[in-house]
Amino acid sequence: MRLVMLGAPGSGKGTQGARLAERLQVPHIASGDLLRAQVRDRTELGRLIAGCLDSGKLVPDEQVLDLVLPVVLAAAAGAGGYVLDGFPRSVAQAVKAESVLAESDAGVERVIFLAVPEPVLVERLLERAGAAGRSDDTPEVIGDRLRVFQAETRPLIDHYRARGLLLEVAADRPAEEITQAIVTIL
Ligand code: AP5
Repeated sequence: MRLVMLGAPGSGKGTQGARLAERLQVPHIASGDLLRAQVRDRTELGRLIAGCLDSGKLVPDEQVLDLVLPVVLAAAAGAGGYVLDGFPRSVAQAVKAESVLAESDAGVERVIFLAVPEPVLVERLLERAGAAGRSDDTPEVIGDRLRVFQAETRPLIDHYRARGLLLEVAADRPAEEITQAIVTIL
């Protein structure tokens, strides 16, 4: 199965992506984790993108596509599928990825949109900030990330709906219930 997890920051893309990948026995590929690893490892790319990650802005398409697509292609070829989390992040990214993936018969089969009311998103992210914390989990950057989602990522809902790939799941409930609901609709 080749899945995309779509949702706002804090909607549970990472949480559900990991659970589904385990059930489906395919790699969980999180673009945010791949990008943060570059920063942590102080690579040249990491130095270029650190500011975007800290401020909640999207990393430029070319850098994201170069980093993520080889991993997606390898997962599709080696494991027969993937669960993608955080990518694509805009219609432009989706269109560019579609043409590359289609050449290898590795295109997206289903997109799960995790629907969560905004106050719940903010509450979850502030709670994480108080626990482990991520550099972009400050009140100001959370607001910016939510605005970026509305402007850049939300149009993907219509993009995938028009292609008959979108499945929407109410995701303001316990994680296990959400996983069960996704498995059922898949
Ligand atoms: P990314 O790492 O993708 O972060 P995000 O979209 O902001 O999402 P989060 O990881 O905060 O939330 P999530 O939806 O995964 O939820 P999670 O399961 O973690 O992106 C970070 C940055 O990288 C971007 O701002 C951008 O700069 C860059 N980037 C990444 N991809 C890019 C791309 N394709 N193009 C350009 N730039 C890119 O859960 C959140 C919290 O809620 C956790 O504490 C969790 O325990 C809790 N939680 C989860 N589910 C539940 C539940 N059901 N009930 C209660 N709590 C829950």
